[in-house]
Amino acid sequence: MNLVFLGPPGAGKGTMAVRVAEHFSIPHISTGDIFRANIKGETELGKKVKAILDAGNLVPDELTIDLVRDRLTKPDAQNGYILDGFPRTIPQADALAGFSTVTKALNFVLVDEEVVKRLSGRRVHPGSGRTYHVLFSPPKVADTDDVTGEPLVIRPDDQEDAIRNRLEVYRKQTEPLIEYYQSKNLLVDIDSSPAPDAVFKTVLNALS
Ligand code: AP5
Repeated sequence: MNLVFLGPPGAGKGTMAVRVAEHFSIPHISTGDIFRANIKGETELGKKVKAILDAGNLVPDELTIDLVRDRLTKPDAQNGYILDGFPRTIPQADALAGFSTVTKALNFVLVDEEVVKRLSGRRVHPGSGRTYHVLFSPPKVADTDDVTGEPLVIRPDDQEDAIRNRLEVYRKQTEPLIEYYQSKNLLVDIDSSPAPDAVFKTVLNALS
């Protein structure tokens, strides 16, 4: 099962990808997480993309495509995968079609007002990528990771200006992918507005 997760920033793609990956024992491949790990590790790639991510713009296609092409050759991706945050442009989708066959594209649908609420309350454990929300899924102790006890952080691109820019970038560059996958009969819309357990049920139904 080769899955693509589409949807605006903050729609819950990452939250669902973690659960779906565990359920089907397939890897969750998040280009955003890969870029953030490189920024944290101060690698060459990390240095190149830091300012781009902080502002909420897209990393150039060539860099992103090479990274995903390489990741999909790894042994754990041979029996399926979830691509979370890739493709994000038509050239990325065309490139993906050249090196892998997508089984389904799930489109997580959420209105902008909810997106802003979700992103402004998001807290992340940088070591693992575990995600919390101050109201909707708070950690047991405020601002502390449940598993390691380490502090949680606010992503730099969850500041108000960057959120607004990410939504704009999404509309211009990523939304056309909805039609792209619709025209290939691969698209399934998922209402992402209910609580996570309900969204997860909808996702499992869509994949059964
Ligand atoms: P990326 O990390 O992919 O960010 P994004 O697409 O903006 O998505 P998010 O991670 O913000 O949101 P999400 O939908 O995963 O929501 P989440 O589950 O966390 O990309 C970051 C950057 O990397 C990009 O801006 C770009 O610069 C670069 N990049 C990445 N891929 C690229 C590519 N292909 N090409 C070029 N550049 C690329 O949920 C959000 C919050 O809501 C959380 O707090 C969560 O707890 C809460 N929540 C989730 N579900 C629910 C629910 N059902 N009810 C209530 N709360 C919920």
